[in-house]
Amino acid sequence: MTPPANWREQYDISRLNTMAAPSRAQYFVEVNAEDALLDAVRAAKAADLSVSILAGGSNVLCPPLVEGLVVQPSLLGQSVVVAPCGLHAVVTVQAGENWHQLVRWCVANGYYGLENLALIPGRVGAAPIQNIGAYGVELSDVLLSVKWLDLNTERFYRFDRQDCQLGYRDSIFKRELSGRAVITEVTLQLNLQANPSIRYQPLADYFSQTGCAVTPQAVFDAVCRERESKLPDPKKTPNSGSFFKNPVITQKQFEALKAQYPAVPSYPQGGDAVKIPAAWLIDQCGLKGQNVCGLLVHAKQALVLTNPKKRDLATILAASDKIAACVFDAFAVKLEREPQILGNIC
Ligand code: EPU
Repeated sequence: MTPPANWREQYDISRLNTMAAPSRAQYFVEVNAEDALLDAVRAAKAADLSVSILAGGSNVLCPPLVEGLVVQPSLLGQSVVVAPCGLHAVVTVQAGENWHQLVRWCVANGYYGLENLALIPGRVGAAPIQNIGAYGVELSDVLLSVKWLDLNTERFYRFDRQDCQLGYRDSIFKRELSGRAVITEVTLQLNLQANPSIRYQPLADYFSQTGCAVTPQAVFDAVCRERESKLPDPKKTPNSGSFFKNPVITQKQFEALKAQYPAVPSYPQGGDAVKIPAAWLIDQCGLKGQNVCGLLVHAKQALVLTNPKKRDLATILAASDKIAACVFDAFAVKLEREPQILGNIC
């Protein structure tokens, strides 16, 4: 087969995943419009190649070779419509925009609600897939709708928030539509009046201790400072952010754990469910700051695994399994990995 002129063959994507695992794509193409995306998908299918989608690469683990076509959707642009009620701005953003730049732009222009989600690495299109969340706010709090391409039917669809079935680090795009959907556009409903959230206790503590006024800009600045003090910058130290989801256990399991470890932190989820911080479990195992199979459990946040030596996927998974096994042996709690493995998805 003769690949289209804009496809690159055996393309090195090591620098396109923030974990910096050595990786190349059999074919790679970057697209910046919906019709170019559709053309690439059709050409891949015609050549019997699988299609994988790589966005900002900050929540993905890459194997040494990704067979088929890797598509990077880099659609740019945004628009704002003020709702007739005058209370909200409806902000529509193309999937390839950088998430943090969007947050910064919204705060600067008086569209509020994203400030707690500052400095999350990655692109806008990836945000609904795992319902990004931090410091007491989740994307689900502001999401209106998502436009996506179905790789099977080759048609574009629009899902409203309900259709996306957002949960904790979860959505329909990670489940039923895994490997089928390419998000091209995200629409948010933001506030025109400031209503900053400091539900997250350390943020509330910061404002009560400093006496600073709780404005969206101050929350944005505090979140940036907090993240910069604890989380490694992927541009300097390869990592994928939180490496595990915080496990949700039953009330009965939680009571047994608390009887043994009275200090275990917990976040009741309603009903029988209790979320506990994976970072605490890993930390209690004595793994914080430790070298595990050549990767490092981050010394300032045990939930983050860094890859300073740029080890490959097999080594990353070995480290992941070892950490999960330590936690399971100690607490009988299963850890679930957060970043997904880039693979053949269509
Ligand atoms: N803790 C430890 N040791 C540590 C770190 C934390 O024992 O090394 C305990 C502390 O008791 C702390 C608790 O764990 O109170 C929770 O820690 P933290 O507030 O830092 O949050 P997290 O639950 O570990 C989650 C998100 C982060 C997000 C923060 C802040 C997940 C998987 N991770 O982490 O998201 O920034 O809350 O809201 O839910 C990401 O997704 O990449 C990410 C960084």
